Amino acid sequence: MKIASIVGARPQFIKCAPLSREIRKEFDEVLIHTGQHYDPNMSGIFFSELDIPLPDYNLGIGSGSHGRQTGRMLMALEKVLLAEKPSLVLVYGDTNTTLAGAITASKLQVPLAHVEAGLRSRDRRMPEEINRVIADRISDLLFCPTAAAVLNLEKEGCRRGVHLTGDVMVDALRYNLGIAEEASGVLDLFGVKDRKYLVATVHRQSNTDDAANLRNIIDGFRETDFPVIFPVHPRTRKFLAKYNLLKDLPGSLVLAEPLGYLDMLRLMAHARKIVTDSGGIQKEAYLLRVPCITLRENSEWMETVEDGWNVLAGTDPARIRDLIANFSPAKPTRDLFGDGNSSGRIVSIIREFLGG
Ligand code: UD1
Repeated sequence: MKIASIVGARPQFIKCAPLSREIRKEFDEVLIHTGQHYDPNMSGIFFSELDIPLPDYNLGIGSGSHGRQTGRMLMALEKVLLAEKPSLVLVYGDTNTTLAGAITASKLQVPLAHVEAGLRSRDRRMPEEINRVIADRISDLLFCPTAAAVLNLEKEGCRRGVHLTGDVMVDALRYNLGIAEEASGVLDLFGVKDRKYLVATVHRQSNTDDAANLRNIIDGFRETDFPVIFPVHPRTRKFLAKYNLLKDLPGSLVLAEPLGYLDMLRLMAHARKIVTDSGGIQKEAYLLRVPCITLRENSEWMETVEDGWNVLAGTDPARIRDLIANFSPAKPTRDLFGDGNSSGRIVSIIREFLGG
């Protein structure tokens, strides 16, 4: 039996790595890359580092407005799914690739499974929120990373096909942390020592495209006692230039190109604190027991906030500065995201669903 996995953006490559390994033990997998991310350090490096088989298809869709990007994906994916006739389509997370994959499969009446189902920020202005609500609505199998995600779906009246599997990002992190410690020279590269630096990432549309928000975030990094290593997403670099913010960057800020998974993992693992607007990084910070300051007003991972390891800072520069200096978690972490065998669990559920 054939399973089609549809990926396209950085976090999806990470999520598909452990699951792909499990799937290929008993199914044929056809891997479809939409090409949403295409720069070598946003795409290719993940395939080589994480040992993901090369995609059977790269649709080369690239960037564009939401409508154009998603529409082009729909057209291209339909062709591939009609030719490949998979028994099940797997989509991951909350990107435009997820949305396009979900709609295409469901219109062709191919069973659809959503990895990372049930997450909600309750902010409909986020494109990701719309993408995941729609993907969940039309999925036959919903693989939830947390109990809170199951509850979110229950509140929306969605119970059929819902499974609490744990988070495949835990599988990826556990598998790769030792490898990263061995293989990555990232601390030397930046000349930093254990717990003596911060890591920052910013790429959320509401933070990058809005000049005031982006300026405020940059101002939040002024007067820090430690260097802030800032691997810059291409979207963010574009807007830093557009809003003339590159000229007056805080002295502590070290701009870098986007990093591969292994370098990023090691850099995060040894950081004093992490400042981010990424969903995945909030969770990785928690798993690595590094305090996280989130540059948003909400989060899909509120458990990490409730446990005191993550704090919502929004984009107020004074608040960001204060949290960088003073935020410190008080409680121990818990096993919120599963035991590192979510991929195995997902494959068992798929096997049963397909009648194997
Ligand atoms: C997308 C996802 C977001 C996810 C993120 C991970 C959507 C709506 N958003 O955001 O949920 O957290 O990926 O990184 O799907 N660009 C390049 N090279 C690339 C890719 C992007 O230069 O390889 C630039 C382009 O200018 C592009 C912009 O980044 O217009 C945004 O890329 P896009 O894929 O539309 O969204 P992301 O911000 O990456």
